[in-house]
Amino acid sequence: MTTIHLGKTYWILETQQTAYAFGLTSRGTLTHAYWGKRLPNLEDYPSPPEAAPYESWSGPEHLTPEEYPAYAGAKYTEPCLKTTFSDGVRDTVLRFVGAEQRIGEPSPLCITLRDAYYPLQVALYYRVHERYDLIERWAEITNLGDAPVLLERAWSALWHLPWGDNYRLSHLSGQWFKEWRLCREFLRPGVKVKESRRLTTGHTANPWFAVDRGAADECQGEVWFGVLAWSGNWKMVAEVTEYGATRIGLGVNDWDFAWRLAPGESFLTPSSLAGYTQEGFGAASRLLHDYARKHLPHGNRLHPVLYNSWEAVFFDVNEASQIALAERAARMGVELFVMDDGWFHRRNKDNAGLGDWWPDERKFPNGLKPLIERINALGMDFGLWIEPEMVNPDSDLYRAHPDWVIHFPTRQRTQMRSQLILNLARSDVQDYLIEKLDALLSEHNIAFIKWDMNRNVSEPGWPDAPGDPRELWVRYVHGVYRVWETLAKRHPHVLWQGCSGGGGRVDFGMLRLVDQFWVSDNTEATARLEIQEGFSQLMPAITMESQVTEMGKPLMPLPFRFHVSMMGVLGVSVDLMKWSEEELRLGAEMIALYKEIRPIVQLGDQYRLLPAQGSPFAAVQYVSKDKTESVLFVFRTHAPEPTYVPPISLRGLDPHMRYRIEGFSETRSGEAWMNLGLRFDLKNGESTVRRITSIASSNSSAHGAKSN
Ligand code: DGJ
Repeated sequence: MTTIHLGKTYWILETQQTAYAFGLTSRGTLTHAYWGKRLPNLEDYPSPPEAAPYESWSGPEHLTPEEYPAYAGAKYTEPCLKTTFSDGVRDTVLRFVGAEQRIGEPSPLCITLRDAYYPLQVALYYRVHERYDLIERWAEITNLGDAPVLLERAWSALWHLPWGDNYRLSHLSGQWFKEWRLCREFLRPGVKVKESRRLTTGHTANPWFAVDRGAADECQGEVWFGVLAWSGNWKMVAEVTEYGATRIGLGVNDWDFAWRLAPGESFLTPSSLAGYTQEGFGAASRLLHDYARKHLPHGNRLHPVLYNSWEAVFFDVNEASQIALAERAARMGVELFVMDDGWFHRRNKDNAGLGDWWPDERKFPNGLKPLIERINALGMDFGLWIEPEMVNPDSDLYRAHPDWVIHFPTRQRTQMRSQLILNLARSDVQDYLIEKLDALLSEHNIAFIKWDMNRNVSEPGWPDAPGDPRELWVRYVHGVYRVWETLAKRHPHVLWQGCSGGGGRVDFGMLRLVDQFWVSDNTEATARLEIQEGFSQLMPAITMESQVTEMGKPLMPLPFRFHVSMMGVLGVSVDLMKWSEEELRLGAEMIALYKEIRPIVQLGDQYRLLPAQGSPFAAVQYVSKDKTESVLFVFRTHAPEPTYVPPISLRGLDPHMRYRIEGFSETRSGEAWMNLGLRFDLKNGESTVRRITSIASSNSSAHGAKSN
């Protein structure tokens, strides 16, 4: 099936359910025409809108939805591109040159534009991810002349919504320990900016959006949604113009950004992906989940149940204590034992050691090998924590290379958590990290790496930068990608966890590197329900590492904490030496149950049935792709008596199949279970997990999973 319809002046991109169309106006302006439901015939799609100037106040380009507007002429809306040419001209007039389909999988459409006077070329790429109803866009800006050009803004895409000014924006806000809060607000004329100026994606916002007309919910309604696949400073601008047009621009942040494009050089923007659905926010999330799963480094390989040492012993790791914990973890059925911070040279607390990536001689006098061998003998894989981008001033690395950190020579180097940031824009820093970490991975049997990043930037200087020092923002991220990709290529069996003091670097750019994320340092189970729900707006459960810990007062019951963590990739991070035999037994039972439902949770479709944020209840359902199996989680955190858990209607079942739900004596059609409204009698702090099986596929009796 052709998904890109290539005309001479009009292009239509079709996914399974949606279409996106644009073309040239009679003035030759590349203009957006349509984004929404796929229409029956190609002739059904509208022509790009034409506009006449409005008195002497707004030029025609100001009034048309230009696909990739550059700052030029009489237009005042947010541009995608802003440049300064070597003669000081700051007006970029892009003209259409040609269109062709390039080689690739799937092959992108490339529209070439060129400045009317200067030899500056802009290639706009569009790729159709048909199965996921997603369009991917990015741009490549090339200097074909012999004088440098300064880029001051180079976004990935401007997504135009159907004409109208009464849209509601959903976005994610937060802070460290409180990431992933879903906010919904109506857009008003003007701009609403979400961004990161922190060097990484950040805890405070995420480059994700969903836009509706105010009436969509989890199950129904038109939703336009998208992400930026970038792990550094980013900007998202939702603009409503005075003429009632609404658009969302996404790209590398132009805050403090500049890029000196030398003759012959190109600047490649990251991708932005966006989609449309008529089935509400839930469907929008599931489309992103499917796409994300498809692009994970290790595909659909199930992720292991892990143990992590951090919440158990913090920096206090050594061979004997880790082996003792590992023995207990293995008894419970843990598959991967991860040693977190504290294992390397002189690392007893957070003020020393970062940069010196070899085992601490006192804690591990014989190196890491005896520990790893013991863990492997216990039947578990071994994983390790690193924080490669950082250095403590109290480290051999910093003493040898004080100039390797991001800094301005005349300014104080602000320390946060006693650490400074290595300048990964520098290739010598990248090479050093590749060498050291490659040796670590080559010399040890390491199956999993947790890559952490624990501070935000300050004094963003790069004293000996070869180009404009403000290129740091982008070149740093390219450096991180290069180091990580090189290691991943050399050690393809390693599973990677991305962490930045919790969820500080979660984005679609990381998907090329990481298999799973550390979503938040907040592991208190009730807070976690809300955090996990926010994360699920864009990322699937298989990427969501979730650990059972002892954080929180009062501590929620152990089954409740397990159930919360079973909705992602289950982990345990408690001091197991303090656990009673009964707790270890319960842990083992929970892990065994998780292993049974894991394929449904990690690979199935997720439905948010009772939203957790701001509510004392939560219910989440996962359904296998073939719809023969499902699992339902229900929680009640706190609510005054008498309050009942609201009735829950299941989703995603096959209406014609018959299903049995654990704890219910009757079997019913999927249609019935999706309309009846199930009642659960839960008290505060109680939760339940129910397996749902289609009659044809249920060959065993219902599993005793109710554990409230
Ligand atoms: C921050 C992470 O989010 C924690 O899980 C832990 O790894 C610490 N860093 C270790 O320093």
